[in-house]
Amino acid sequence: MSVAELNAVARAMVAPGKGILAADESSPTIKKRFDLISLESTEDARRSYREMLFAAPGVAEQISGVILFDETLRQSASDGTPFPNYLDQLGIIPGIKVDKGAKPLAGFPGETITEGLDGLRDRLNEYHELGARFAKWRAVIDIGTNIPSAFGISANAHALARYAALCQEAGIVPIVEPEVLMDGAHDIERCEEVTNRVLTATFEQLEAHRVALEGMILKPNMVISGKKCPTQASVQAVAEATVRCLTANVPEGVPGIAFLSGGQSDVDATAHLNAMNQLGPHPWELSFSYGRALQAPALKAWGGQAENYGAGQQAFSLRAKLNGLARTGSYDAAMEPAA
Ligand code: 13P
Repeated sequence: MSVAELNAVARAMVAPGKGILAADESSPTIKKRFDLISLESTEDARRSYREMLFAAPGVAEQISGVILFDETLRQSASDGTPFPNYLDQLGIIPGIKVDKGAKPLAGFPGETITEGLDGLRDRLNEYHELGARFAKWRAVIDIGTNIPSAFGISANAHALARYAALCQEAGIVPIVEPEVLMDGAHDIERCEEVTNRVLTATFEQLEAHRVALEGMILKPNMVISGKKCPTQASVQAVAEATVRCLTANVPEGVPGIAFLSGGQSDVDATAHLNAMNQLGPHPWELSFSYGRALQAPALKAWGGQAENYGAGQQAFSLRAKLNGLARTGSYDAAMEPAA
C-alpha cells in the first residue's frame, strides 16, 4: 500500500469532529472493568457489551474508528455480521491491538518493555485479511525514583518503531502509543520532562526505521500532574504544557494526535482536549482515542442488565458527542448532565 493510501486512512481516523474508541481491553483488563459492575466476564458478556457500544445510535458521527482486541475482531454482532464488517457498514474503521503487553525489562527494576514483535508480520497480514485497517501498540513508561532510565525509554521507542514499520509494510496504519503513566505523586513539570524525553526518542526511532510519518497516528499521554500529586495543575496548565511538548517533538507531517485518557475522569479528559483545541490552530489534528473516558459512564449505566442496554448506549453517545465538540474547542462544562 502506498503512503498516500495510508495517509488517507490516517486522516479519516482523525477526521474533523471525530475520534477513536479504544475497546481493546485484553481479557484480564475487561474482567477488571466488569468486576466494577459485578458481572462475570464470559465470552458472550464481552461480545454483548462491545455490541452495545458499536450499535449506539448516531455514534458514527463522532467515532471514526474502534480499536478491537483479537477476540472481538473474530466475533460477530447478534445479527451474525462479523464485527469488522459491522463497523465498516456503519462507516467506522476497524482497528486491532497487536502488542502482547508490557513485561518487566530485565536488569531495569520498575521498568517494562512491550512484547509482541516476534511473528508480528504474519499476524498483521491475517488482521488485514480480517478487515483491520489500523493497529495499536502501547509502550508503558512509569515515573518514579531514578526511572525511567534512558535505556528503558530507548528500548520502548525502538520496539514502537519496529512495530510501526511492519504495520506500514502490511498496509495498516500504526497508532504509536508511548504512554507516560499518571499513577505517581510527581508534578506536571516532571511529567513534561519525561514526556519530552519519550517523544524525542520515539520520533528518532521512527525516522531511523523509515516509518512514513504521514501514515501514522501518535497516541500520547497528556502532560498532567500525577494522580497522587498534592497540587493538581489546572485544565489550562495541562493544555498549555501538552501543546508545548507536542510542538517541540511532533513533526508537522504527522496527520493526527489522538490522546489516551490514562485514568483521567471522563469530564477531565473532555475538558483537556477542548482547551487544547481552543489553543489552535495546530499543524496536526488533536483528537481522542479514549478507553475508560468514553466507556466508564456507559458501563455504569448498563450494569450488565439487558433492560439498561438503551441507557448504556445513551451514556456512550453523550460522551462521544461531547468529545466530538471538544475537537473544535466548542465543548462547555455546562453541557454535562447534572450529577
Ligand atoms: P485509556 O483511555 O483508558 O487510557 O485507554 C486507551 C488505550 O487504548 C490504552 O492503551
